[in-house]
Amino acid sequence: MSSEPVETDDGKTLYPVEPAANLGEGERITVNIKGREITLFNSNDEFHAVLNFCPHQGGPLCEGLLDGTLTMEDWEWTYSCDGEIVSCPWHGWEFDIKTGEHLSKSDYRVPTYDVVVRDGEVYVVE
Ligand code: FES
Repeated sequence: MSSEPVETDDGKTLYPVEPAANLGEGERITVNIKGREITLFNSNDEFHAVLNFCPHQGGPLCEGLLDGTLTMEDWEWTYSCDGEIVSCPWHGWEFDIKTGEHLSKSDYRVPTYDVVVRDGEVYVVE
C-alpha cells in the first residue's frame, strides 16, 4: 500500500490498495485489509473489490479464471458479461465480481466492497 487509510466525514474508511495506473485492464491484485484477503479487479475499465474466499469450501476464489458466461435462451447460446465472472479454482463455482452473486445458486454470495479512486489511488471502502 502506498498510503494510510483515510477516514471520511460519513464514518467510512478508505483503504488504499494501489495506484490506478498500476492496475491495467484485466489485471488484479490481492491485498490484506483488516485480516481479510480482498482482491481488486480492473475489468472493463471499472474497479471491483471481492473477498478472496469462496463460500463453497473456502477456496481462493479470486485466483480463478476471469471470463464471461454462456446463457441459453430460445435454444440460442449467448456469451455475455465478459471479464465479470470469476470461477473458483477449486471446484469451478462462478460469481459475478460486480455483485458477488453466484451465477445459479441464489443462496450463495461472496462479499463485495465499494471502490473509489482519489488522486489516482484506488481505495476499498468500508
Ligand atoms: S471452494 Fe470454491 S468452488 Fe469449491
